[in-house]
Amino acid sequence: MTRIYAIANQKGGVGKTTTAVNLGAYLAAAGQRVLIVDIDPQANATSSLGLGASQLPRSIYDVFSGETELADVITLTNRMRLDIVPSSHAMAALETEAVETIRDPYQRSFLLRNALTPTLHRYDYILIDSPPSLGLITVNAMTAAQGVLIPVQSEYLALEGLGQLLSTIDKVRRGLNPALRIVGILVTMADMRNKLSRQVEEEIRKYFQDLVFKTVIPRNVRLGESPSYGEPINAYAPNSAGARAYQQLAEELLIRDGVMSPTSPQGAVA
Ligand SMILES: Nc1ncnc2c1ncn2[C@@H]1O[C@H](COP(=O)(O)OP(=O)(O)OP(=O)(O)O)[C@@H](O)[C@H]1O
Ligand SMILES: [Mg+2]
Repeated sequence: MTRIYAIANQKGGVGKTTTAVNLGAYLAAAGQRVLIVDIDPQANATSSLGLGASQLPRSIYDVFSGETELADVITLTNRMRLDIVPSSHAMAALETEAVETIRDPYQRSFLLRNALTPTLHRYDYILIDSPPSLGLITVNAMTAAQGVLIPVQSEYLALEGLGQLLSTIDKVRRGLNPALRIVGILVTMADMRNKLSRQVEEEIRKYFQDLVFKTVIPRNVRLGESPSYGEPINAYAPNSAGARAYQQLAEELLIRDGVMSPTSPQGAVA
């Protein structure tokens, strides 16, 4: 069974792309076949994995516009078992174009889901990196996915906007994708020495309880640097605190998903 997770939060800069790339890299390192689907016009996941969005012949845009099959856009990365469907800046126009060309809003929301169907058997995990908005592109991600993984930055006003995100998830569940669930809430960019950061984490846990991953991603300089080297953290700085955190997150997710047993040696973190 392929697990398809949309990584979403309409708040910008909370760690969606960093999570897609590095969680993906550690799931692949753990033996899972992983596809990252970049649907953000900023194409940050694409460039974080060393691909120049402007140099690629095709992107997810061509898939959304019906020009190409998704399989033809899948690109290998330097990491084994980690593939990507790159995005491009052309995606910025998608929303307006799709409204003009596809009259039926229901059909417009299923573009990604339909495009993914023929390639599902090739992957264990598909992680969709969404843009910071709740528009058509993110709705496509939620319609295609079984779950939404929500990174939340541990800072002032972290919870602001989450209500809107949860209500969008609810709307998608009611109208488009009844199986959609929340995979987990991930606290990112945490600074344990900072009282506010600890308080925010506490508040998130109080509110969302077991939905919150035990793993917390610390603020870590190496995580911020690795995209400019075009490598995920397990290649760029495998001994950094950021690397350890994403490895632990991958293990926690594999255990939650029943792929890895909590008693297996690698699962000791649980
Ligand atoms: N744990 C971390 N420690 C330090 N820097 C981080 C961490 N996580 C992400 N960053 C950096 O913070 C910035 C925002 O992160 P990222 O791009 O992952 O967020 P995003 O939610 O995808 O943003 P957008 O909404 O623009 O797509 C990036 O420069 C990234 O390298
Ligand atoms: Mg991003």
